[in-house]
Amino acid sequence: MKYHKILENREYRYCLDKLDELEQDRIYCRHGLEHFYAVARITLMLAQEGGISVDEDVVYGAALLHDLGRYDINAENHEAVSCELARKILHDCEYNFDTIQQIVDIISNHRGRYSISKIQELRRSKKLDLNECFRVADQISRRCFECKSSETCKWKDEEKIHFEFIELQGET
Ligand SMILES: [Fe+2]
Ligand SMILES: [Fe+2]
Repeated sequence: MKYHKILENREYRYCLDKLDELEQDRIYCRHGLEHFYAVARITLMLAQEGGISVDEDVVYGAALLHDLGRYDINAENHEAVSCELARKILHDCEYNFDTIQQIVDIISNHRGRYSISKIQELRRSKKLDLNECFRVADQISRRCFECKSSETCKWKDEEKIHFEFIELQGET
């Protein structure tokens, strides 16, 4: 697996450490490795559910890098910074041009939330492409149900995650 190289990359570690430091006292969702791995796993699950074949290096690459730009507190949009870092880091990790493009595309489109009912509708109709699987995974990886700051969180109530895992089967 190529994505392991990302974790060993010096620039990656530097930004990740900065981000961890920055978010140490953050009361809302943090953006560390735990979140990144959760997004990767849920993306793979959604892709499988929708019958989309994926390259795990693409999914893990995008997941590990998508929020890295948040380390830059002056950045107006973190996905643009993440894309820039991703190009550099992935190149250093010997990812090929097409794979880098695919990852950057996922990262630049990862922002946005749906209502939970919309997510379930999209999953049922199998209309999610890989970028959307990733965007949804980024949202449903969150654990609003156990978050102590949920009341003041800017997410709308219909976007919040009320269960550990949003089941599809058995729903009406
Ligand atoms: Fe993000
Ligand atoms: Fe995220």
